Amino acid sequence: LVSRPVNHRDQLVEHLTFASELGVTGVSRDPAWRQRSEPVLSSHPLAFAASGETLDRIRIDLGPDCSRCKLHTFGHRQVVFGAGNPNADLLFVGEAPGADEDEQGIPFVGRAGQLLTKIIEAIALKRDDVYIANVIKCRPPNNRNPEPDEVETCEPFLFRQIDVIKPKVIVTLGKFATQSLLRTLDPISRLRGRVFEYRGAKLIPTFHPAYLLRNPSSKREVWED
Ligand code: URA
Repeated sequence: LVSRPVNHRDQLVEHLTFASELGVTGVSRDPAWRQRSEPVLSSHPLAFAASGETLDRIRIDLGPDCSRCKLHTFGHRQVVFGAGNPNADLLFVGEAPGADEDEQGIPFVGRAGQLLTKIIEAIALKRDDVYIANVIKCRPPNNRNPEPDEVETCEPFLFRQIDVIKPKVIVTLGKFATQSLLRTLDPISRLRGRVFEYRGAKLIPTFHPAYLLRNPSSKREVWED
């Protein structure tokens, strides 16, 4: 019998790879480093690998033909999950898909969406730099406002998206998204112009681009926001 020599280097590499997949950020024999207070898991890019949570996982959980709420009975085409950079610092949250979004499966691609694209470009970013999602993932019939039971059913998927993306700034577009996330009935006129702490990000409410299409003079406030 010929026993193969143990390759300690390979074993060490395997061990460290496993640790890094668990979210361990480094190793050191320095006692001060070992007792550091910074959380080892949550700040590491592989922490999501450890928790298993990714945007793809959320999209799969949501499924292509979600029937959790009554919106699936009204003949929309598809679930509009969200689009953009999964590591974005800036997340825009709208209300719900409209007809164009339902057609293409991408949020904010209609007239209001084209204005949102211009707003993003006005701050020297591209749509691909940011992430765009809605509170509600399916088009409400005749673009009516989403109803409370629909929000309650759908918003956990948005919360999971926020927790995975970990944006620095969340811009809520319009009254509906702002009130839903902040759990308030305050009017948008009272909420915009303020900055809120929300799930580890700064939440900045602003007017919905569809509102701006009807009230172009409010573009100035959106620019300030
Ligand atoms: N309005 C929204 O709130 N979301 C979209 O995706 C499109 C229009």
